[in-house]
Amino acid sequence: MATSPAVFACEDIHIRLGGRSILEGISLGVAPGEILGVVGPNGAGKTTLFEILSGRYTPSQGRVILAGKDVTRLKLFDRARLGLGRTYQSPVVPDALTVGEVFRAARQAFRPYLTRFHAEWAAEKVGLRVPMSVLAGSLEALNRRKLLLACLLMRKPVVMLLDEPAAGLINSEIDELDSIIRHLAREMGMGIMLVEHRLELLSAIADRCVVLDLGKLIAEGDPEKVFEDPRVRAAYFEVEAA
Ligand SMILES: Nc1ncnc2c1ncn2[C@@H]1O[C@H](COP(=O)(O)OP(=O)(O)OP(=O)(O)O)[C@@H](O)[C@H]1O
Ligand SMILES: [Mg+2]
Repeated sequence: MATSPAVFACEDIHIRLGGRSILEGISLGVAPGEILGVVGPNGAGKTTLFEILSGRYTPSQGRVILAGKDVTRLKLFDRARLGLGRTYQSPVVPDALTVGEVFRAARQAFRPYLTRFHAEWAAEKVGLRVPMSVLAGSLEALNRRKLLLACLLMRKPVVMLLDEPAAGLINSEIDELDSIIRHLAREMGMGIMLVEHRLELLSAIADRCVVLDLGKLIAEGDPEKVFEDPRVRAAYFEVEAA
């Protein structure tokens, strides 16, 4: 378990979608400055959990707690105002807007409006080195991810939920992304929940891992140890054999 109390947590989350149970009794939390890996084979329920944590879905049972406050009934944008940031599995950017226009929309999303200085600071923090005049739609995958991350970073969230941020990146880009994520946790003190289904990628960066399989939490702890757990191996083996 984390050494300091969780800044963001959920307790006993259940949800049914399409007439079947998708998540059953999920409890987990992340401490400030901690990187929690959320692992599990395809279809395990990782993204659905993020939908609940971020406020797009309401669980049928259970609670979501942000900085000591019960936010289970709060909408996505209200949670964002309280310091929750989230990125999505696909790095979708508004193709027809320039990078500067995307930043401006993000700066003006909530009051008080942020300044250009905030955007420049966030771009620098994530190592986004492209002119503000280029079209967001022309950016490569890593720069798209950086742009979306920088738009969140401007408001200095206390927690970031990152859904498969390494998807579509090559190894050297994954290393760069890992060092950005590490910086957000270690230097800026954010709690980070990071979804990934490739175990080997998480062992390089996560302080702790939880493993989901078929909607249940089947293992939790130190990444290296968790990956040796026979239940975890079985969950992955089944997927590879399918
Ligand atoms: N809106 C929905 N209605 C019905 N079933 C859904 C819905 N959303 C997700 N599911 C089902 O819930 C299960 C978990 O899906 P989810 O996308 O959360 O998995 P995941 O762990 O993120 O997978 P991946 O690694 O492929 O991204 C899947 O079986 C999926 O088909
Ligand atoms: Mg997913």
